[in-house]
Amino acid sequence: MLEKFERYPLTFDGPTPVEYLPRMTEALGGKVEIWAKRDDCNSGLALGGNKLRKLEYIIPDAIASNADTLVSIGGVQSNHTRMVAAVAAKIGMKCRLVQESWVPHEDAVYDRVGNILLTRLMGADSRIVDEGFDIGIRKSWEDAMQAVRDEGGKPYGIPAGASVHKFGGLGYVGFAEEVCAQEADLGIKFDYIVVCVVTGSTQAGMIVGFAADDRAEGVIGIDASGIPEQTRAQVRQIVDSTAELVELGRVVRDDEIVINPDYAYPAYGVPSQETNEAIRFAARTEAMITDPVYEGKSMQGMMDLVKKGFFPEGSKVLYAHLGGAPALNGYSYTYRNG
Ligand SMILES: Cc1ncc(COP(=O)(O)O)c(C=O)c1O
Repeated sequence: MLEKFERYPLTFDGPTPVEYLPRMTEALGGKVEIWAKRDDCNSGLALGGNKLRKLEYIIPDAIASNADTLVSIGGVQSNHTRMVAAVAAKIGMKCRLVQESWVPHEDAVYDRVGNILLTRLMGADSRIVDEGFDIGIRKSWEDAMQAVRDEGGKPYGIPAGASVHKFGGLGYVGFAEEVCAQEADLGIKFDYIVVCVVTGSTQAGMIVGFAADDRAEGVIGIDASGIPEQTRAQVRQIVDSTAELVELGRVVRDDEIVINPDYAYPAYGVPSQETNEAIRFAARTEAMITDPVYEGKSMQGMMDLVKKGFFPEGSKVLYAHLGGAPALNGYSYTYRNG
């Protein structure tokens, strides 16, 4: 469905690995097979992650616009702004970032380590502002674009999570197509795909991609935003615009958009005790590193759903690992004893 769109390669050639997780499967009772698709290992650019798939379809538009500065926004420990900084460095553009104070934190060095450290290292002009969490279009981001113009630059805006951008959903349509091809090679079929959702275009792209194969309802979004209604509305909107763009040929039904709100507590960016247990569990069974903001919550959700019997016996569940490990550095107090 993506042939007609220009793609600027930012990830390693070929599909990201799909791997069976035997120790995790066993530890969760052995009745459901757990697999992972490792989009956390997708690139040599600044530790990679899900945003690169999205940016591959956005960057051609940025280059065509003759911009000289990518302008984006996220939290202080944003993976997304790290990825925008990486891409700007790689293609030789400047980068201006608004880093909002989305998360209350305990670590004294929270705003110096992990994602923001890498972001600064790559030369981005990163400014921390005192705004709370939001997944929509922000005034602080529009102000940053104006500031670049005022300084004589030409900005190209990429919204939070690269989600509310006309091409933001395309990358994960490609993920779905990739999974279908890998299934054919492996001779298996996944019954469910578990994915973390916050700004929405990762899951929305997957839904559109899998809808072409009539299996979108198998994509189980685990909300980590803590504002599930707003997230669902944003996913709905991106599903519709992306479906039209790729000419899916039908409207995706509401029941094909599955988002579970049960694991985002206590708040965006704040891990619960159960999230921390899930992070330790993935690390200790498969040496698979997940983070307290995103993947730790989807891991927690997947584990709990397996334990509750949500997935029928014999199911094959694919955990979409989207990256995010650098943020762990901002939570060193929480994990000081492992
Ligand atoms: C590591 C990681 N996982 C999951 C997500 C959620 O993806 P999305 O914002 O497209 O819903 C993000 C970004 O927000 C992320 O950085």
